[in-house]
Amino acid sequence: MSGEYQKAYDRSINDPNGFWGEVAEDIVWIKKWDKVLDDSNVPFYRWFTGGVVNSCYNALDRHVDEGNGDRLALIYDSPVTGNTVRKYTFRELRDEVAKFAGVLAGQGVVKGDRVIIYMPMVAEAAIAMLACARLGAVHSVVFGGFASNELAVRINDAKPKVIVSASCGIEVNRVIPYKPLLDGAIALSDSKPEKTIILQRPESPAELKAGYDLDWAAEMASAKPADCVPVAATDPLYILYTSGTTGEPKGVVRDNGGHMVALKWTMKNIYNVKPGDVFWAASDVGWVVGHSYIVYAPLFNGNTTIFYEGKPVGTPDAGAFWRLIAEHNVKVLFTAPTAFRAIKREDPNALLMKNYDLSKFTTLYLAGERTDPDTLEWAMKALDRPVIDHWWQTETGWAIAANCMGLEQLPVKPGSPTVPVPGWDVHVLDETCNDVKRGDIGAICVKLPLPPGTLPTLYNNDERYKKSYLSEYPGHYATADAGFMDEDGYVYIMARTDDVINVAGHRLSTGGMEEVLAKHPDVAECAVVGVADSFKGQLPVGFVCLKAGVDRPYEDITKELVQMVREQIGAVAAFKQAVVVDRLPKTRSGKILRGTIQKIADNEPWKMPATIDDPAILDEIKDALTGIGYSDARKGA
Ligand code: COA
Ligand code: AMP
Repeated sequence: MSGEYQKAYDRSINDPNGFWGEVAEDIVWIKKWDKVLDDSNVPFYRWFTGGVVNSCYNALDRHVDEGNGDRLALIYDSPVTGNTVRKYTFRELRDEVAKFAGVLAGQGVVKGDRVIIYMPMVAEAAIAMLACARLGAVHSVVFGGFASNELAVRINDAKPKVIVSASCGIEVNRVIPYKPLLDGAIALSDSKPEKTIILQRPESPAELKAGYDLDWAAEMASAKPADCVPVAATDPLYILYTSGTTGEPKGVVRDNGGHMVALKWTMKNIYNVKPGDVFWAASDVGWVVGHSYIVYAPLFNGNTTIFYEGKPVGTPDAGAFWRLIAEHNVKVLFTAPTAFRAIKREDPNALLMKNYDLSKFTTLYLAGERTDPDTLEWAMKALDRPVIDHWWQTETGWAIAANCMGLEQLPVKPGSPTVPVPGWDVHVLDETCNDVKRGDIGAICVKLPLPPGTLPTLYNNDERYKKSYLSEYPGHYATADAGFMDEDGYVYIMARTDDVINVAGHRLSTGGMEEVLAKHPDVAECAVVGVADSFKGQLPVGFVCLKAGVDRPYEDITKELVQMVREQIGAVAAFKQAVVVDRLPKTRSGKILRGTIQKIADNEPWKMPATIDDPAILDEIKDALTGIGYSDARKGA
């Protein structure tokens, strides 16, 4: 081992000003910072205060100005639209973005205004994001799999001046009209955007309301390009809503300066790519992976990024990833383990891989959920290349723990995303905020300050930021993940400590689903738990108690509940199972024992909680689980 990792790590913790100040020289600044780390308003740390920048300039114009305008910036590859492939050089992408910034400016969008982007995986989603960045407007991308209600909640919080959307998305071979969902959301929300801009797609064009819904293509045809607007390093670049304990999502804020500095550094030091390399994050632009590693980081670093409108399987088969890697000379692929589980399930011997030339491909990175050792081993064997698990969150914007391949390759330990990345002072704490012994499980926390590029606060909600992340372990950021560190400092992530579950790499709130179930007129109380699933990681299952006197068939009620979650949260919640039970297990103080239900369902060892009000209720839960196919449930007792 070269020691490069340890050297960088120690410096980042002992001298954060020196470390990040040097790294920041890699960014083009309009005015350099006065302070690298500003700790004048603890616990609200800020990075690069006094600095003036533009994120779009650093993603696009910079490369043109430095003579690399003809390099490929973005490849749009869409098997769901008849194998469309469209390529943009940095110059072409800059010109499109400048024009769309002109369209937004023409609608009165200025620095600080919010713009919601509700789009499928088309290049125009990146164009809209970067156009906001160009103007200093704050984008908030909403994942296309969310239904009207979820979109409305985000509209109410962000209060966008304009919403940019598309007429439809395409899920394998199913066309999903977006416009009715958008109209529904606007109707539901109290804060009405002044205009919408709609990208019309031939698969299902939308009806536009004259004067309110503007047509993307028509507006672009007459737009005047807009220039980059200088913004403070500490100004917000975007808000990205993510699931928390309740149905009210958290608006994670990202700044401009720290975000650019950190993300560009990760491309070289974690992902080991250099400008010109093709980097593909097979995720969705609606998630943090899409923000950081489909759009911003690769472009800051002068890499070619890929917008893939397709799935790992079914578009058309389990060889889809290998086709893209071969056709576009992908060097690094980043995706969620669930995508590899999907491929493994359809093509267990990776036979389809043999049809493609993967000689340019070097490394696979996995994140978004735990990588099970089976999938890790399968991927390593099939690819015969390093497979790197790394751990992070929407809030952090980049990896907390990883094998930093650009610094030094450390040995892989299956089940661990390796070690804390430079910048992250990771501690595993007990309830009294003391470090537990190596090997013992505790709450994984990060000693403040968090490195650049992480959330400075929650949108318009400093109090919730403090309460959610900083109050439980004073002086630390609580990740809400539990786990341990081994003797070598390797981190192991075991479970969430809140009501967040991870379904096919998508972060969802069981609390949010419970809020939907509770609205059903026949439901008296309910609990949703995430049970283990060998394909999607976890799946939500609902347990409901009905109001006295309800005598409708249970099957009708559970079908309605499934439909309600689909309509109000979205298909992406994958909420397909609900059961009626007479009672829910509770502590004597009335707290529902979700953790125990989950353990029973997962067939994990569990102890009878000392505080349970009536132990017999757990038998009913076991029977209910057996009734819906968790037939091993009884073994847990
Ligand atoms: N717009 C509309 N609907 C969407 C959608 C979108 N953008 N994305 C997903 N959905 C729908 C799906 O069509 C599906 O609907 P269905 O219940 O009618 O079948 C439902 O939401 C669940 O979708 P998904 O979780 O994607 O499951 P899937 O079975 O269609 O595909 C995988 C499974 C593994 C192929 C897919 O989840 C995947 O590629 N996951 C990678 C996850 C990822 O990128 N995570 C980000 C962090 S890295
Ligand atoms: P998200 O905010 O959607 O990125 O989800 C973040 C959560 O996903 C984390 O808090 C973890 O619970 C989980 N997660 C992400 N990456 C990993 C990983 N590599 N190993 C285990 N869990 C992970």
